[in-house]
Amino acid sequence: MCGIVACILKDGSAAPVLLECVRRLEYRGYDSVGIATSDPMIRIKKDSGKIDEVDAELDLADLPGSMGIAHVRWATHGLPTAENAHPHTDCSGEIAVVHNGIIENYLEVKEELESEGHIFRSETDTEVIPHLIEKYMDEGMDLEAATATALRKLRGAYAIAVVSSREPGRIVGARKESPLIVGVGEGEYFLASDVPAILNHTSRVIYLDDGEMVILDGDLRVTDMEGNTVEKEIHSIDWSADMAEKGGYDHFMLKEIHEEPSAVRDTLTEWDEVLGVVEEIGEVERICFVACGTSYHASLVGKYLFESLLGIPTDVILASEFRYSAGALNDRTLAIFISQSGETADTLNALRAANSRAKTLAIVNVLGSSATREAQHVLYTRAGPEIGVAATKTYVSQLTVIYMLVAAMGAPELMDRLGRVPEFMERALKDEDSIRELAATCSDVSDFFFIGRGFAYPTALEGALKLKEITYIHGEGYAAGELKHGPLALIDNGVPVVAISPPGPCHDKTLSNVEEVRARGARVIGVGSISDESLRKEADDFIGLDPEVDDVISPLIYIVPLQLLSYHVSVERGLDPDKPKNLAKCVTVE
Ligand code: AGP
Repeated sequence: MCGIVACILKDGSAAPVLLECVRRLEYRGYDSVGIATSDPMIRIKKDSGKIDEVDAELDLADLPGSMGIAHVRWATHGLPTAENAHPHTDCSGEIAVVHNGIIENYLEVKEELESEGHIFRSETDTEVIPHLIEKYMDEGMDLEAATATALRKLRGAYAIAVVSSREPGRIVGARKESPLIVGVGEGEYFLASDVPAILNHTSRVIYLDDGEMVILDGDLRVTDMEGNTVEKEIHSIDWSADMAEKGGYDHFMLKEIHEEPSAVRDTLTEWDEVLGVVEEIGEVERICFVACGTSYHASLVGKYLFESLLGIPTDVILASEFRYSAGALNDRTLAIFISQSGETADTLNALRAANSRAKTLAIVNVLGSSATREAQHVLYTRAGPEIGVAATKTYVSQLTVIYMLVAAMGAPELMDRLGRVPEFMERALKDEDSIRELAATCSDVSDFFFIGRGFAYPTALEGALKLKEITYIHGEGYAAGELKHGPLALIDNGVPVVAISPPGPCHDKTLSNVEEVRARGARVIGVGSISDESLRKEADDFIGLDPEVDDVISPLIYIVPLQLLSYHVSVERGLDPDKPKNLAKCVTVE
């Protein structure tokens, strides 16, 4: 959470560039925004609110200087106020810092610094960093040494960028457990939390590792915390700037849903990589998926696949619960970590704990992210950058990799069916108008239920998650058979129940559950095969999908109308589906 950017240009004004770059990171946090430039005096504009609101009020691009730093915040320590917005400065205003992460021992450091006379202006953990750097520079250190010394005193996670008018023309960056990349342009350099931020300026990137610092001053040097130079590889990124634009759609989320057929097609080109990884991994007796949120729902589909098609016992553990529940890993267990960002703190911590006890595989979308560097094996989803906070195209891409993995491990017949998924999705997307109309009729309800059995159960959970995160309507996903064990008490006249029932062995039993909710007055929204007359008859509203999509392959296609439904309900309610309140795309805190 939080996004940081820094740039040092050959000439020209840094502030408009910083503003453009930090806009591309707004998915990481939108509680406040701030920019500091140096010419060499440090000048800062910052306030609480989304970038457009703050920009309208402060004209953020109007700052002098060809270098600077910028930040979007997802508040952890301190309310989302102007005082707590980054950049933060030292007492003299000569050192400015942006930070993503959490400094765990900030209270004791702050107390010590206050006793030495430092004046703090915010409630944030971050503010100790500029004051510590100030203290060490006052003792005679240069910016680089003072930053390294300050960081050695701090516990916790950070990606930071620092500028100081005492050392004009220099930016110092550093990372530990929070992402930071270096963009290498023609005589100009960038720092950013994520690649999409800088794609308009360069596609050449260095991935910093934990404990590394970078010094930008017309040249580029990467060091460890002791100042020893570290040689780094420059990677070329094949994502284009256009991929991180809305491309004519009203929102990133809608564009990303419409990109799902191509995301699946592109991910299917990873087949050789999947075969290679399966060969490297060797014999596996048990699978353990670990993930959060939408990635957890993709993992649940994996459980149904591995157990029903290959007979391999499979656990699925929420990453935040991993340390309390994963006792049975061994060298014949394959622990699979699924993460769009590859930076989710809970998932990374679980991966680190599992690495010495099991074979580990990360399935990740963001190139070069932490998970890709820490797992023993890596497979990429080829969804391209996903900017909307709600995961959509990356979910179906994660599913695609999981299906390919199952195919490579013993169910090759899946591959033919996977090849047809993009075409089935394209057909589902054509139904958007009727889903928009449906959304208009259920945008003012307070509760929504999603039910499904077998392969449709994870789809019900994911449908409910999408709805609640972008519409703020209470949505619950249930295994259809569970309703009578409690949730049925919540069903009342007119409560929408989305019944997901693809053709397959669970169909008739799901239909009985549909009858149960109908008998209690629910408004049933059936999602099934277009030729499913029995479901159509039971349902008040019906979303028909290609009859050739059976239950096994259904998670990839049946989620499409549910994503569209949530999107249109959100728009209908006047919300911004790309930036749901209280959430951020990349969750780098536990
Ligand atoms: C879903 O729409 C959310 N963005 C969220 O649940 C997300 O899937 C979760 O935070 C995990 O993120 P990751 O895949 O980047 O690890």
